[in-house]
Amino acid sequence: MKFFLDTANVQEIREAASLGLLDGVTTNPSLVAKEGREFIPLLKEICSIVSGPISAEVISTQYSEILQEARELAAIHQNIVVKIPLIKDGLKAVKTLSNEGIKTNVTLCFSPSQALMAAKAGATYISPFIGRLDDISHDGMKLIKQIVTIYRNYGFATQVLVASVRHPIHVVQAALLGADVCTMPFKVLEQLIHHPLTNSGIERFLADWKTLQSK
Ligand code: E4P
Repeated sequence: MKFFLDTANVQEIREAASLGLLDGVTTNPSLVAKEGREFIPLLKEICSIVSGPISAEVISTQYSEILQEARELAAIHQNIVVKIPLIKDGLKAVKTLSNEGIKTNVTLCFSPSQALMAAKAGATYISPFIGRLDDISHDGMKLIKQIVTIYRNYGFATQVLVASVRHPIHVVQAALLGADVCTMPFKVLEQLIHHPLTNSGIERFLADWKTLQSK
């Protein structure tokens, strides 16, 4: 399973990249707005830190404008994946861009039928938002299971990118279901590492070792 960081914060990206386990980055307009920086220079800086897919989202919702924005974003760096919302014009644009060899990440997916349409349009990634489904008492992970099954049934090449991740269990469940990628906030990446028994275990080992030294 590939790990993407779901942030536009350069400090977090640098720290995660230094672990050597970071495969890519996903951004969205809200995450970029949080940084209070100009989009394109920020994107270029992210591309210089991580040598993997970097998702950058279009703002347009009309076919021709989506295409123009997508082509401009894709021209910035070879690792840019253009994030496009799951609407009719978006799918049409994904089909055109996929024919041009531009990679796409279809975002704001909340149903298996939407995921099926994105795969048929030739999306590189589909981003089902599981946390936002959980937030309204729907089972986000059930959607991942349905999409993975549908894509396997037909051998679609579109990769399932689990998004809107809120906690480590989401990552573990997504891995059990065979999702291709999980994009997560920095906090969740750190939470995946920690276990209180590991910490207390180290403390005990070191304390025991100390008693040996004093003999
Ligand atoms: C990433 O691709 C999505 O934009 C992001 O995971 C959404 O997360 P949120 O639901 O926490 O805003």
